[in-house]
Amino acid sequence: MTKIISLCKRRGFIFQSSEIYGGVEALWDLGPLGAMMKKNLRDFWTKKFVFEEENIVPIEGTVLMHPKVWEASGHLEHFTDPLVECKNCHFRYRADHMAAGRFIGQGKAKVKNQCPNCGEKEFTEPRMFNLMFKTFLGPIEDKAYQTYLRPETAQSMFTNFQNVLNSSRLKIPFGIAQIGRSFRNEITLGDFIFRSREFDIAEIEYFVEPGEDEKWFEIWLDKWEKFFLDLGIKKENLRRFEHPKESLAHYSKRTVDIEYKFPFGWAELAGIANRTNYDLKKHSQFSGQDLEYYDEEKKKKYFPFVIEPTMGLERAILAILCDAYQEIEGGRTKTTKATKEIEILLKLDKKIAPIKIAILPLVRNKPELVKKAKEVYQMLKPHFTCQYDELGSIGRRYRRQDEIGTLWTITIDFDTLKDDTVTVRDRDTMKQERVKIGDLIKLLKEKLEK
Ligand code: GAP
Repeated sequence: MTKIISLCKRRGFIFQSSEIYGGVEALWDLGPLGAMMKKNLRDFWTKKFVFEEENIVPIEGTVLMHPKVWEASGHLEHFTDPLVECKNCHFRYRADHMAAGRFIGQGKAKVKNQCPNCGEKEFTEPRMFNLMFKTFLGPIEDKAYQTYLRPETAQSMFTNFQNVLNSSRLKIPFGIAQIGRSFRNEITLGDFIFRSREFDIAEIEYFVEPGEDEKWFEIWLDKWEKFFLDLGIKKENLRRFEHPKESLAHYSKRTVDIEYKFPFGWAELAGIANRTNYDLKKHSQFSGQDLEYYDEEKKKKYFPFVIEPTMGLERAILAILCDAYQEIEGGRTKTTKATKEIEILLKLDKKIAPIKIAILPLVRNKPELVKKAKEVYQMLKPHFTCQYDELGSIGRRYRRQDEIGTLWTITIDFDTLKDDTVTVRDRDTMKQERVKIGDLIKLLKEKLEK
């Protein structure tokens, strides 16, 4: 994990928020490469679940909503974790994490229920702590104006259920999809971007007829798991975890987590829940609006059940980075003597790699080569995310690109000046092929789509 964190900072994937002021725990900024990776992930999710599905539509709801939303949804009452405080140093922890020995080996914690900060074992009784951030609408900081930053995106898909139905002529089964910022005042921090206080959630609320929900749950579970395999995550690093009844959220009839084998152990990467008709019913009760669905063919009215596949985008990025990270002792080139140097290869999937192509002049002190390389760069830029790099030896530049997962590197050499061909090097096989500059766009597009 330390190596991945270091790579992320060094190469511009992820930085600590407000770092120049000492940083803030569990808040992270995405650097240039991280931001591009996240865009690719968002685009792939939208392509798969909005564009390629016939009956799923996107919305974009607000982060701040009417405070009644959180009363109706049950978040005010149930969106809590048990908090304990060390009686000696007053550090606070999640009681269930303490009891499970989550901190053993961190700081001074040698056994379960021992404070990692000071080593003492006396804690206050657990009290329920609500994870929602409070804020105020308008200039008066008063209970009447108090609301919350949303902890999930789901609720605006329920409050807009009738609006979407009335404006889009969808029939059940259908889905509403949304990606958006979510906020949780987490008690246990650490593990890099795995658990943050601010992150993006991508979720779908899929509305089905009651009685059909168990069938749709299975269908979505398979689709959802396949999504992560399609992102290039290795099968052996994914598994399903069926939540026992006692750990189900207040709205759930069944929840399965898709877990990933992170460097710190198996943990939830994404989830899928059968939310029943809990949310629509509650919002009907609290708002006085009828949120039932009228089935024209069957001539009946009902509250649809909801199947909800959900994931945190940053958590998915962490899993993708961990899965793609490889270290090669002595380097990959067998033509030169192994130097014992460790080479890093980030084997990111084509869809996710932030930089698709790097353009490198063989040397930078030959103006004709540099000029030609810049022309190739300008030609490719409108079609692919590209990087131009002329600093250091060609071997070093290949390694720099391998480290950030660049798919192909194009080298402009002296032959280029004679015959207008370049070499295209493949990140994974390191094979090089000679290609006419005029054929580059077509060839690279074909490779990307393969
Ligand atoms: N609407 C359902 C819902 O919000 P959740 O399991 O609480 O379900 C959804 O959260 C996903 O968001 C999780 O599967 C996880 O990927 C991600 N997630 C949850 N808490 C997170 C946190 N503090 N930091 C980063 N990602 C988080």
